[in-house]
Formats: sequence, structure tokens, C-alpha cells
Amino acid sequence: MNIDHFYVTTPIYYVNDKPHIGHAYTTILADVLARYHRSLGIDTFFLTGTDEHGQKVEKAAARKAMEPKAHCDETVVRFQELWQRLGITNDKFIRTTDAYHKEVVRRILQDLYDRGEIYKAEYTGWYCVGDERFFTEKDLVDGRCPECGREVSAIKESNYFFRMSKYQQWLIDYIQTHPDFIQPAFRANETLGFLKKELGDLCISRPKARLAWGIELPFDPDYVCYVWFDALINYISGVGYLQDEAEFKRWWPASYHLIGKDILTTHSVYWPTMLKAIGLPMPKTIFAHGWWLTGNTKMSKSLGNVINPMDMIDRCGVDAFRYFLLAEMSPGNDASFTEESFVARYNSDLANDLGNLLSRVVKMVLRSCSGVIPAPETLLDEDRELSAEVAAARRAMEASLASMKIDQGIAAVMNAVRAGNRYLEKTAPWTLAKKGETDRLNTVLHTAADALRQVAVLLAPVMPEKMAELRAVLGYDPEMAATAKIADLDLPGSGPAGLTVKDSAGLFPRIMPEEKSAANAAPAEKPAKKNAEKPVEKPVNVVEMIEITDFSRVQLRTATILAAEPVPGADKLLKLQINCGAENRQIVSGIAPWYKPESLVGRTIVIVANLKPARIRGVDSNGMLLAAKAGKELRLVTVDGDIPSGAQVN
Ligand code: ME8
Ligand code: MG
Repeated sequence: MNIDHFYVTTPIYYVNDKPHIGHAYTTILADVLARYHRSLGIDTFFLTGTDEHGQKVEKAAARKAMEPKAHCDETVVRFQELWQRLGITNDKFIRTTDAYHKEVVRRILQDLYDRGEIYKAEYTGWYCVGDERFFTEKDLVDGRCPECGREVSAIKESNYFFRMSKYQQWLIDYIQTHPDFIQPAFRANETLGFLKKELGDLCISRPKARLAWGIELPFDPDYVCYVWFDALINYISGVGYLQDEAEFKRWWPASYHLIGKDILTTHSVYWPTMLKAIGLPMPKTIFAHGWWLTGNTKMSKSLGNVINPMDMIDRCGVDAFRYFLLAEMSPGNDASFTEESFVARYNSDLANDLGNLLSRVVKMVLRSCSGVIPAPETLLDEDRELSAEVAAARRAMEASLASMKIDQGIAAVMNAVRAGNRYLEKTAPWTLAKKGETDRLNTVLHTAADALRQVAVLLAPVMPEKMAELRAVLGYDPEMAATAKIADLDLPGSGPAGLTVKDSAGLFPRIMPEEKSAANAAPAEKPAKKNAEKPVEKPVNVVEMIEITDFSRVQLRTATILAAEPVPGADKLLKLQINCGAENRQIVSGIAPWYKPESLVGRTIVIVANLKPARIRGVDSNGMLLAAKAGKELRLVTVDGDIPSGAQVN
């Protein structure tokens, strides 16, 4: 590849919660890119870390009644442990609470302030805590955050502003003349669309009175720095900026900022204008990947349908998980994670195609060549064809790296694997062995083993442990097996002739899809059931976990009780007339032992609004009210404060 250094970053993740599959994806993608570039012999630096300031983190700490820094120290470990578990080879882990980072941010702020790039003004606007972003009145959609739809709070205060607006035209020109700058291209268009509106200046401060958890402005101790302004600077403070100029020169500009599409604007508008004002060159590419969905729904903390990477790893191993994420997603688009697609891909690509090729070759070498991979004799066209397939996969893999189409590179390697299986069927080494055609047998087994050797190196960045194991099975020294490089694939003596293979129990045991008995048959769209391959005894009292989609089928609403009377002949039942917004209804409920009818009128309760109507003791009941019960006590579920009837409860 025609580059002399490779510097890749991930977003630095908020420490407000534990990491999920989306964070794992970006980090694994960066890891795979870093490993490929090292494998190609390119000087590589891989930076990841955590974003620890700002209101989101302050609030998360407050919820746990902890000091923000103590909360960060506790949460950061979850990220670091997960990265270790996932085999992430970052060269550095940056925390925005690290002293060196804070110092770099302060020096940049002071310099921009001294040069008039930052000024003070009165501000009115709206703030979304979830996104840590300010919006103007006209940015809002139906009075809510235009990015995430959450509620925003009104803000009016004096603040410091970065003169972002003055770089608007420059940024438009830069994006238009640098097609690699924002990728995929439709994200560049999205940014250009955003830049059609007049770009405002960026509010980069928060009064300490409102938010204390941040980096203090060097020129005004009453304020802290806006968390995004602080966070974006990690990409340069993490590689020596204002600390070690030689180190900084070595890595900057970054080759790739990998991000999810949720944080495109901060990276494609704020960050470039900040760099421009600081006087630094632009990163080569900001790449925004798509979204992991659960089935067809967005995965998000607030929906509660996030997939915990640790569960998947426990179940199927780190490398299969890495493989699935990388092979399944075309990085620009969204992808869906379901149990079915995971098991299907694992079984077909890894257990069948790759696993079979390896076990066939190893068995034949053990049976017919005393376990030693033979040297080849005369090559025929069919042998050359397989080698050509492998060479093509190698080129495809390298090309896919340059264009961030890594799923296609992986697909090309899997094609070569399938070509390997077809080759064995065609050449039938088992028949050659029977017939005693040793020369031909040796050539075939060597050719197939050599394909496996190369495949293992090509897939090593994706499945580092499994591919090291594969090479060890082929007879390579385990230490060397783990460090083999694409750049060394053609070195003399790197081929497999003369190696002693090891009998292996199978690299990728098949995953048996969960048996679906009539009793627990799951609807087809139901996502991942955990631990499906090793059914565990259900302890008594276990709470069965449901998906958010299960819960969302239940429609809960507020309702006001208009009238209540006993049901004749049923001393526990009351008949209630309720209003739930647009309609009045009647429901029957067994609350008579606890509530006198007249005490109920005027109360706002919560009902299940979409329960099928029923007849209870001959009385129609259209819905069900919610109540909490403990022992002999029963209390109605009510709402905390004034809210109209018919309001959705969730
Ligand atoms: O935004 N699918 O941090 P964050 C794919 N601190 N990727 C996902 C995902 C999903 N469902 N969910 C999250 C922040 N991600 C800031 C970044 S950078 C200077 C500051 C990934 O913890 C994806 O990379 O909210 C996304 O951009 C990132 O996690 C957001 O992580
Ligand atoms: Mg986020």
C-alpha cells in the first residue's frame, strides 16, 4: 500500500454507561484496520479512549451519588476490560480527564482567545443533554432535539464563542475539493446540505454555576469548556500535540477518524473548523459507519434493546464475534444483529467452509503423508487456479482496506476458501492416495495447505486468535503463527512444505440453532436468545427477560376516574367509569376491599389500554388498571403530578 504511516481513531466514548455492541463495533473495526496495516508493514498508531466531561457524565455520577471523577474511574474500567477481552490493540487509551489532555485543551483555548478566534457574548437557545449540543429555536423539530427527539431545555446566559461561522465557505470548498475527506460520499453530501444553512458560531463554554464538570477556561475561571470542544482535541493531544512535536509530526494528520453516523456534524463541521483555526492540516478521512440494529429496530440505551458484547463473546468466542461484525456490515450502511443471522453466518462461513477445508487437509496429511506437509511436484492448471484465487483475494483485501469495504475483502477471502473446497472435490486427494499417485497427491495437499496458510494470514486481523491456532495446526511455531504478516507471505521458505500438522479438534465447532419446541416456539422476528447452545436449567423464581418490543406491545395510558360503584353480588369488584383522553370507558377491577367507591372519583390512574375487552361477572370491562400489591396491602398506581388523561405511559 502506498502510504508510510497509518493513524486511526475511534470516538472516545462517554463514560455514562457500559459499552454495548455499537461501541464494540467501531473499536473492532479500528482494531482490524490497525492490524491490517501493521501486517502490511506500515507504521501504525491506534487511539481510543473515553470522553469524561460534560453534563451527561455529571448527571450519571449524580445518579449514583458519586463524585464525577470517581464515577469515571469506575466506568472506564468496563471499556478497558472489554477492549482487552476483544483483543483490541490500541497503542494508547486517552481519557479526557488525563492531565496532559487538559493542558493541551487549555493551551489551545488560550491561543484561540488571544488571536480573537474566541469571544464572549450573551446567548439564548436550547440545549439537549443527551447529545450535549446547543440548538437555536429554528433548529428544533416540534420543539424537540432535531438529532434525537428528546426534550431540550431553554438556556440564556453569557458564554464564550468560537468564530466557526467565518470558516463556513472555506469548509464547503474543502469538502468539495477533497472527495476522501468525508466518507461515504453521501455523508459528505449530508454535511454540505447542513452547510447550506448559515453556520453560527460555536458556544464553547458552560458557566460553572450550571455545569462544573469540565476543563476550566484558562481566561475565565467562572466557566468550563464545552465537552465536544474538549473531546475532539483528543485526536491531537493523544499523539503528542504541544508535547512531543516529533511524535505529533509522525502521526498527524490522522488517516481515519472512524465514527458512527450519529456524530457526523461534530466531526465534519466543528472539528475541521477548529483545526483550521488552530492552524493544523485536516485528517485524511472522516468515516461515518452505519448503525447496528436489533432486528429492524434501532439499538439504544433508552429503548433497552442493546446487545451486550460480553454475552455474545461468552457464547461464541471473541473471534467469531469479531468476524460476524466485520463480515456482516458494509461500513457505510446499517446492519442488523440477530441470533439467526449470526448462527447462519458462523455455521456456513466458519464451521463449514473454512473449518472443512482445514480438517480435510489435516486429515489427508496425517493419513497419507505421516503428518508432514509434502513439497509440490509438477503444477497443473487446477493448482495454479487455486493459487490465483488466493492471490486475487489478497489483492481484494488490500483494495477493500483502502476503500473501507472490509466486508468485501473478507468475502473475497471466503471465496478463495470455497474455491479450496471445490479444488479438493475436483482433485480428490483421497482417491489419489488410494491409487498410489503420490506425486499428484503431494502437489494437491501442498497447494491446499498453502491456500490455508495465506488465508490464515489474511484473516488474522479479523480473527487473531483463531488464525494463529490455524497456523499452529498447519505446523507453524505458535509464536510465529501469531505474528505472521501479509508483507511476509511471499518470503522464500514461508510455504508449508515440511511442516508437521497437528490433529485438531476443529477450530469452529458448529453452533446448533436452538431447538424450537411447540411450547417455547418464538415468533420469527424475536431477536437473540442467550446461551442457546447450552440450555441451562431454569432456576425457580427466575424473571424471564423480555425484549423492548414485547413491552411496547402493551399500551399503558393515564385515565381519570369519573364514577365508581360496587358490582352487585361481587364484593371485591368495583365498576369504574373512566376517561382516557378522547374516550370514556368502563372497567371492572377487584379493588373493593381497599378502596371505597367515592374515594376514587377524580383520581388519575394508569391502565392497560389495549387489553382485549372482557365480561366479568356479567359486566363489560374494557381495560385493566394497575395496582401494586404486597401481602395484604394494595395501592393504585398513580402519576406524580398533573398530567392529562390518555397520556402514554412508558
Ligand atoms: O458520541 N451502531 O460517545 P458515545 C453502531 N463521546 N455504532 C454505535 C452504535 C450503534 N447502535 N451505538 C454507538 C460520543 N455506536 C462522544 C464521542 S468523539 C470526539 C466524542 C458507536 O459513547 C459509534 O461509533 O455516545 C458512535 O459514534 C459512538 O459509539 C458514540 O459513542
Ligand atoms: Mg451517543
